[in-house]
Amino acid sequence: MDFIEEFRSEVPLTQHYVYLNHAAISPTPLSVYLEVNKYLISVMTKGTIAVNEHEADDFYHIREKIGKLVNAKSEEISLIPNTSYGINVIAHGLDFKQGENVVTDNVEFPATVYPFLKLVKNKKIELRIAKVSPEKIEDEILSRVDKNTKLISLSHVSFSTGVKVDISRIVKEAKQVGAYVLLDIIQSAGATEVDLKKFDVDFAVAGGYKWLMSPQGSGFMYVKEGLLEDPPFYGWKSASNFLEFNPEKFDLEKGPRRFEIGTLDVASNLGLAKSCEIIYQHRDEIFGRIQYLSNYVIKIANERGLEVITPENKKAGIVVIKIKNPRKASEYLLRKKIIVSPRGEGIRISTHFYNTLEEIESAIDNIIYYLRES
Ligand SMILES: Cc1ncc(COP(=O)(O)O)c(C=O)c1O
Repeated sequence: MDFIEEFRSEVPLTQHYVYLNHAAISPTPLSVYLEVNKYLISVMTKGTIAVNEHEADDFYHIREKIGKLVNAKSEEISLIPNTSYGINVIAHGLDFKQGENVVTDNVEFPATVYPFLKLVKNKKIELRIAKVSPEKIEDEILSRVDKNTKLISLSHVSFSTGVKVDISRIVKEAKQVGAYVLLDIIQSAGATEVDLKKFDVDFAVAGGYKWLMSPQGSGFMYVKEGLLEDPPFYGWKSASNFLEFNPEKFDLEKGPRRFEIGTLDVASNLGLAKSCEIIYQHRDEIFGRIQYLSNYVIKIANERGLEVITPENKKAGIVVIKIKNPRKASEYLLRKKIIVSPRGEGIRISTHFYNTLEEIESAIDNIIYYLRES
């Protein structure tokens, strides 16, 4: 059995459903589940002995595997419970001054936008939401950037159009005005190459439960070396001397634990480290296969006369097919055991590497049946 076939056999849901919804939540594969479970069993049988063993290296065994996948140093990877938390850490960690602005766009998931509303209220910053189209998204975002821009906050891959942004172009222009770039990589990490050193972004954030196939509660934040040395929130674990348990003595931690204010979901993050390791080992095959499957979705959809919103030359794992009343259409597909999400103006098909051509054909066929019947 080759790697993809073997991996597919580790995802039991594939026996019952055509699952094309990895941009929402991925099913937990067996190897990830076993990693999570191994930890929980060790805590069940050894209590603090097991917990202390895992924490002995300050979770560097987890940071290292995540860092390798996204080309970042372990010291730049902090563990967080979800994407929204990470974005808030950055929003409140940067020293915004009245009159500065944050640029984002109108197809973002709210997680990359809402945290800045608090700064609009409290610090009187300006939040600029660029109106964008899939084809010209970079130009449209950059047209709102000026010398008062402190941060550009955007997704690498859009949850609602599937467009993959040319991030190097955004970063290049951001640097010219001295703006930071925060990249939400939850829709790209695990689906396409994410090379944070090459992208040269300042911050990146992702939950682990989508393309990284890990439990909800896992996630990570990348903060470029030298930035946010003083985090916005202090908790007992933000102290380098936390094992002294002394409320009267606080030495700020310098490493990535400075953002991890309290106890983490260790089990879920061990699952995340495991899946990062698997994806890293097979990255060329996985990313190549996801591109191949996305291309196939577009090809079959076009052949059947459906309109595809996602541009063919700027995409990762998400393809959005325009349709009237997408919610009704996805409910129809659910009745046929085909799982997709209604998003934006259409049906979002998000194929992971272990999906098959037959599954894609079945989804497109059923969209056609739905259109005929409705
Ligand atoms: C681009 C993007 N960011 C963030 C999230 C979710 O954020 P969180 O991990 O905080 O739930 C999603 C979920 O669909 C998303 O598509």
